[in-house]
Amino acid sequence: METKHSRAWSALKPEEQKKECAECHITGKTASDSLLVNVGCESCHGPGSEYRSITKMKDAKLAAAAGLMPITEATCVRCHNARSPQFKAPFDFAKAKELGVHKHFTKAK
Ligand code: HEC
Ligand code: HEC
Ligand code: HEC
Repeated sequence: METKHSRAWSALKPEEQKKECAECHITGKTASDSLLVNVGCESCHGPGSEYRSITKMKDAKLAAAAGLMPITEATCVRCHNARSPQFKAPFDFAKAKELGVHKHFTKAK
C-alpha cells in the first residue's frame, strides 16, 4: 500500500479507465468480470488463492510449491515498456525493485 502500484487505477482519469489504458493499471478481472483495480499481489506473483495464507507466504518453499511466482525482470517489463505513454527508457530493474515493491519480511529457509 506504500507503493504507487496501490494507486495505479486512480492515476487514470475516469475517461481513461477504459480498455486501452486499463490493461496495465489493473491486476485483472474476477470470474464474474469485475475489475481488480490497481497493481496488486497477483500482478507480480500470479494467482494467489493457493499461496495466500501467511504461513505459506512466510516459508519460501511452501510459497513456491503453492504457486507464488518468482520475480524476474520480465515480470515488470510486461507493463513497464514503451506501450506506456509515461515510459522513460531504459527500465532499470534493480532500481525499480527498490522503489516499486513492498518491504519483505524475513523468510523461513
Ligand atoms: C510490483 C511487483 C510486486 C507486487 C505487486 C507484489 N510483490 Fe511480492 N515480491 C516482489 C519482489 C520483487 C519480491 C522479492 C523477490 C526476490 O527478491 O527474489 C517479492 C517477494 C515476495 C514474497 C517472498 C518473501 C520475501 O520476503 O521475499 C512474498 C511472500 C510476497 N512477495 C508476497 C506479496 C504479497 C502478499 C503481495 C500483495 C500484498 C505482493 N507480494 C505484491 C514483487 C511484488
Ligand atoms: C503497457 C502498460 C501500460 C499501458 C497500456 C498504459 N499505462 Fe499508464 N503507466 C504504466 C506504467 C508501467 C507506469 C509507470 C511509469 C512507467 O514506467 O511507464 C504508468 C504511469 C502512468 C501515469 C502516471 C501516474 C503517476 O502517478 O504519476 C499515468 C497518468 C498513466 N500511466 C496514464 C495512462 C493512460 C492515460 C493510458 C492510456 C492512454 C495508459 N497509462 C496506458 C503502464 C501502462
Ligand atoms: C500490471 C502492470 C505492472 C506490473 C506487472 C509492474 N508494474 Fe510497476 N507500475 C505499474 C503502473 C501502472 C505504475 C504507475 C502507478 C502510479 O503511478 O499510479 C507503476 C509504477 C511503478 C513504479 C513507480 C514509478 C514512478 O515513476 O515513481 C516503480 C518503481 C515500479 N512500478 C516498479 C515495478 C517493478 C520493479 C515491477 C516488477 C517487480 C513492476 N513495477 C511491475 C504497472 C506495473
